[in-house]
Amino acid sequence: MSEPFRVALSGDFRKPDGSPVYPDFDLTPLRTAPGVEFAYLEPNNPLLSDQLKDFDALILLAHRFTKDSVHPNGRLAVVARFGVGYDTVDVEACTSAGIALAITPDGVRRPVAVSIITLMLALTGKLMVKDRLTREGAPGFARRGDHMGVGLVGRTLGSIGIGNIGAELFRMLKPFDMKLIAHDPYVGDRAASELGVELVGLDELLLRSDIVSVSCPLTADTRHLVNADRLALMKPTAYLINTARGPIVDQKALTKALQEGRIAGAGLDVLEQEPPDRDDPILKLDNVILAPHALCWTDQCFAGNGAADIRAVLDVQRGREPRLVVNRAVLETETWKRRSSEFRARFGG
Ligand SMILES: NC(=O)c1ccc[n+]([C@@H]2O[C@H](COP(=O)([O-])OP(=O)(O)OC[C@H]3O[C@@H](n4cnc5c(N)ncnc54)[C@H](O)[C@@H]3O)[C@@H](O)[C@H]2O)c1
Repeated sequence: MSEPFRVALSGDFRKPDGSPVYPDFDLTPLRTAPGVEFAYLEPNNPLLSDQLKDFDALILLAHRFTKDSVHPNGRLAVVARFGVGYDTVDVEACTSAGIALAITPDGVRRPVAVSIITLMLALTGKLMVKDRLTREGAPGFARRGDHMGVGLVGRTLGSIGIGNIGAELFRMLKPFDMKLIAHDPYVGDRAASELGVELVGLDELLLRSDIVSVSCPLTADTRHLVNADRLALMKPTAYLINTARGPIVDQKALTKALQEGRIAGAGLDVLEQEPPDRDDPILKLDNVILAPHALCWTDQCFAGNGAADIRAVLDVQRGREPRLVVNRAVLETETWKRRSSEFRARFGG
């Protein structure tokens, strides 16, 4: 019997009492896969190379994987991140060690698109204020006419970014009978028109949209992409939704725009600083709905991320390319090809 394919789970998948942090992450496919063994790591953050020396694959929650996490024995073949963000992983270190970095867009696509729609409906339906009015009893009911909601038919939603999540949002918005526009410098007219979306420049998007949603990655180019000048282009009746990354929006400028009623409101799953300081002025505003970077956290999201990570590590075990690799250059290297053919020989491809 040959040596098993050994999979490590980062220590933050387990509570101190040994029970799983996210029971919706179903480990059965790992448990039942022939030739596979798995184990939880001690909760070191960042991960230590010594912890990983006897593993072929790592499923990584929130702990950091740095260049010092790479063991020189060259055994680790894949790091599978639980989610799509990989700012906790040193991608260059992975690439130079021949380690593939896999992510799980299939797991988050629907849950984050649902989060955007949740915020849109809560903002335009004035859900939070109506909840408060109801709890006040008669005086609250007497003021309900002061808080008219905003109907969505014919209104314009503009998404900054039409990738995995932005495209899903547009697919889900079809029955809302809204006008759909987007700004994405890397997406062609054909892909946009297949989604029924008109591609426009960023300024035009901000001028025309009743709801602006941010769904692009945080990069040097997109940091403070939505700044004071761009917020000034928005209609006073418009809402801003950010479920992507906090620093894409200049939060000081947004807070000012909300305080001055320059825009109608905002729905934010992400902030520039997470968690925010208790005295952050954005926390005092009535026209903003906030979530702790967890609005998409559902049983199905976590099950989906887990299933995608297990698929990625089992693909590697069988000598196949995992589908969603960030550093695709690794797949062309001699190290990767040699290791894959060894895995195929040992575990049957
Ligand atoms: N809130 C959460 O829990 C959560 C969960 C998952 C993902 N996210 C975030 O959501 C965002 C979108 O994720 P995704 O999976 O759709 O990513 P993706 O890479 O599939 O799509 C991003 C899109 O943004 C476009 N883009 C890049 N630069 C742009 C720019 N300057 N202007 C406009 N568009 C630009 C890209 O061309 C791409 O089409 C990311 O920031 C991701 O980190 C948040």
